[in-house]
Amino acid sequence: MSKLELEQEFEALLNYLKEDLCCDLTIYKRLTVVRRFKHRMLELKINSYTDYLEYLKNHPQEYLHLSNTVFINFSSFFRDRDSWGYIANDIIPKILTNKQSKEPIKVWSAGCASGQEAYTIAILLAEILGIEQYLERVQIFATDIDKDALLQARQGCYNKLEVADINSYLLLKYFDKKFENNEQYYIINFNLRRKIIFGHHDLAKNAPMSKIDLLICRNVLIYLNSETQTSVFVRFHFALNHNGFLFLGNTESLVKSEDIFSLINLKHRIFAKGENLTLQQHLLIIPTTQRKKKVITSNSTDETQICKTAFKASSYGAETDKNLHQNISSSVDLHL
Ligand SMILES: C[S@@+](CC[C@H](N)C(=O)[O-])C[C@H]1O[C@@H](n2cnc3c(N)ncnc32)[C@H](O)[C@@H]1O
Repeated sequence: MSKLELEQEFEALLNYLKEDLCCDLTIYKRLTVVRRFKHRMLELKINSYTDYLEYLKNHPQEYLHLSNTVFINFSSFFRDRDSWGYIANDIIPKILTNKQSKEPIKVWSAGCASGQEAYTIAILLAEILGIEQYLERVQIFATDIDKDALLQARQGCYNKLEVADINSYLLLKYFDKKFENNEQYYIINFNLRRKIIFGHHDLAKNAPMSKIDLLICRNVLIYLNSETQTSVFVRFHFALNHNGFLFLGNTESLVKSEDIFSLINLKHRIFAKGENLTLQQHLLIIPTTQRKKKVITSNSTDETQICKTAFKASSYGAETDKNLHQNISSSVDLHL
C-alpha cells in the first residue's frame, strides 16, 4: 500500500471518530496518535486502519478502549514535588496578597485525570488557609475529556501505591481509610472533596472557565498539536483573573504565546497573565462543541453546568486579607 493510501485510510478513521463519535483526534500531535492506534491494533491483531474502523463500528465498547489508549491519564499526588513547593511558598501567598478579605479563591485543574492534581492543590490550600477558610473561600474546578478518569476522580479513592507519595502527616489528616477485598484504600476527606467540582470539558472545544486565580494544566498540552496549543493558551488567558497564574508541566512551554503571558519561574513552568488579547485571539475562544448523533459518552449538562458555576461573579469588600497573610510564614512547612 502506498503512503498516500495509508494516509487516506487513517484520515477515514479520524473522520469517523470526529463525525460519528464526536471524538476529534486531529487536535493531537499526529505521530503520537498514530503510535497509540498502532499499539491498540497490535493488541487486537488488526493490520490495517480500514479493518480497525470496521471493528470500531461493530464493537461500540471499543471506543472506551481506544480513549484509554489515546488519552494517557497517568497522574500522581504532588507530581514534581519541588514545583508544588514553589506553588505553596511563592504563588499561593501572592494570590492571597492580591485578594480582598474573604474573597473567593478559584482554581482550575484542567486535564485533571483521576483527580490527584486537584486534591494536591486542595491539600495545599487547606494547609495554608486552615480548613475553615478553605471551606469558605476555595472553589476548585477539575476537568478532563476522559469520563472514566473523572469517575475515579469523583470517588477520590486510591490504593496504597497511589498515595505512596503523600507524606504520612497529610495522609492521616486528609484521607479516611477503607479496607476492602484484602486491600487498604484511602478516601479523600469529605470536607476537602466538597469544594471540588469535577466536570467533563474539552480544552480545545468548550468555553473556558473565568475569574480563575490559579490555572493548573500539567502534562496535557504536550499531546496537543501546536495550532491547538495556541488556541488553548488564548482560552487560558481569558480564564485567568488579572493577577492570575498559569502552572504547566515541567516539560511544557508556551509555544507562540509568550506575549499573552509573562514568565514567573522557568524551572517550575509558572506564568502570569500578560498582555491583552487581540481581536483575532478573542475569536479563537468561541466554543466549537458539536453535539452529534451516537455520542457514547457525552453529557453536555455536565460541561454547561461547570462553566456556569465558574462564571458566577464575585463581589467582596475592599479590605485586603492582611491578617491571613501575616499568618503565612515566608516558608510554609507543608510536610512535602
Ligand atoms: C497525562 S494526564 C495529566 C494529568 C495531570 N494533569 C498530571 O499532570 O498529573 C493528561 C490528561 O489530559 C487529558 N486530556 C487530553 N486531551 C484533553 C482535552 N482536549 N481536554 C481536556 N483534557 C484532555 C487526558 O484525558 C488525561 O487525563
